[in-house]
Amino acid sequence: MDSQDEEAAASAKAEAAQLTREQIAREVKRRRNFAIISHPDAGKTTLTEKLLLFGGAIHEAGEVKARANRRSATSDWMELEKARGISITSTAMTFSYSDMQINLLDTPGHQDFSEDTYRTLAAADNAVMLVDGAKGIEEQTRKLFAVARLRGLPIFTVVNKMDRPALNGFEIIEQLEKEFGLASFPVTWPIGSGDRFCGLYHRPSRKVILYKKGLRGRAATKETYDISDPELAGLVEGDLYEQLLEDVELLEVLGDELDQAEVAAGNVAPMYFCSAFNQFGVDLFLEHFTATAAPPGPSKASLVFKLQSNMDPRHRDKVAFVRVVSGKFSKGMKVKVARTGRTVALSRPQRMFAQDRSTVQEGFAGDVIGLSNPGAFAVGDTVFAGPEVAFPPIPSFSPELFSYMRCAPNQRKAFAKGVDALLGEGAVQVLYSTDEYKQDPILAAVGQLQFEVVQFRMKDEYGVDTTLEPMPYAIARWVRAGWPAVEAAGRLFNTLTVKDMWGRPVLLFRNAFALSQVEAEQGEKLGELSPFALP
Ligand code: G4P
Repeated sequence: MDSQDEEAAASAKAEAAQLTREQIAREVKRRRNFAIISHPDAGKTTLTEKLLLFGGAIHEAGEVKARANRRSATSDWMELEKARGISITSTAMTFSYSDMQINLLDTPGHQDFSEDTYRTLAAADNAVMLVDGAKGIEEQTRKLFAVARLRGLPIFTVVNKMDRPALNGFEIIEQLEKEFGLASFPVTWPIGSGDRFCGLYHRPSRKVILYKKGLRGRAATKETYDISDPELAGLVEGDLYEQLLEDVELLEVLGDELDQAEVAAGNVAPMYFCSAFNQFGVDLFLEHFTATAAPPGPSKASLVFKLQSNMDPRHRDKVAFVRVVSGKFSKGMKVKVARTGRTVALSRPQRMFAQDRSTVQEGFAGDVIGLSNPGAFAVGDTVFAGPEVAFPPIPSFSPELFSYMRCAPNQRKAFAKGVDALLGEGAVQVLYSTDEYKQDPILAAVGQLQFEVVQFRMKDEYGVDTTLEPMPYAIARWVRAGWPAVEAAGRLFNTLTVKDMWGRPVLLFRNAFALSQVEAEQGEKLGELSPFALP
């Protein structure tokens, strides 16, 4: 090549790099990524379904539930979910709305799976806190809010079921302020509740939107009026109209400018009211949310936040869900796993929609991609293609229940295989005795249901009958300083020393009293005791 050719080649390369950078910036700008946090029954499934309907990702109501039911066709253990009426698996769903690509990370609804939810929230950029209008803040909302706050996520409050008798909006605002120290900025405000819920006042535009239910499952219809339109007095029943004008005045006190920086910091939550079931107000929420939600953040590595085995039992597969954090991901690219230093070619990236999959050619920050995982990834891993970067580790919830899991002697091989696959997902933690003659794994969980799922799946997917022997411990603490500290401390009363998957020392205590005793007597020698299994 002569120097002219070299110059041309270099300039073409620079141009291509520039194009890629521009494409990445463009794609990232139009992505919004969120998870819904709510108490079971607040209407998460229903809201998800309506959002997907608006985004054109599904075409008729009932499809999300139907898909959930069809799961039985792909994996039988999900039967357990159906039987219990709960959602255990997390999946990611993608839909578009006015040129934006929205990624909804679905979080499991049952409280025993808050550990899984925790990880999902680690991959989300925004949290939509869905509240039942009649019940206000509930137990699971509290727990999940704490997690969202810990991660500094912007919060968006959606008050659902306004077509049922509901709390007054100001009461809910007060609850959020008092319990969470969270200020609310109502974007929409309900006109009536229960049977009389007929529309919403949209504060940014000072418009009133009156809805009518769609017939036989069809979409709701709406008419929009200016708040000052005299016609409104005839359209909204007398006392509701008066109440509306009064509320509008009261709302002025809350200010009429939404401070974006305060939203981004998670200090102020935009607030919306709706009836997901009747599709009243879901459109207004989606419109404002996509315009206000935080775009994918500036971190550099991609994060494995969930592993799932045997989604399709015909192919003993294992899928790692990875959230792309920056740059561009393309099919076939090679990435390095920070924990192991291994290079892995991403040959079969897939996009998941509920249980359906399609191959992905490329992805951008905020996207969730499923990678078939030949044991290469663990939850909390970071993968990267450029220079190595650190990512804050995802802590696990501290387990509170411990149980030996056993099988019949002739099933040991299948048992070991199942334990490896299922526990590798991190849905339950696994510990081992330090006594070499006791090699049965100790399952450690936050809730009893996690044990049941493991047992069910061991039987269903590996044909192994298992028994559990509960252990009388309730608290686990990781000894940060490692084995030398444990040895220095000597005999610990009422405490069992075990090791985790990576051979690190973990102390099990019967109760808080036993823990405080050990801390008082041997705390100095043991050093920091952590409730989390930090990677
Ligand atoms: P979840 O995923 O948060 O657990 O809640 P889900 O959407 O399954 O909703 C729980 C129940 O609340 C469902 O009733 C659902 O129809 C109802 N629901 C959801 N949104 C609204 C709403 O805006 N208004 C009213 N009135 N109800 C709502 P179900 O009887 O348990 O189930 P289904 O037979 O209706 O499916």
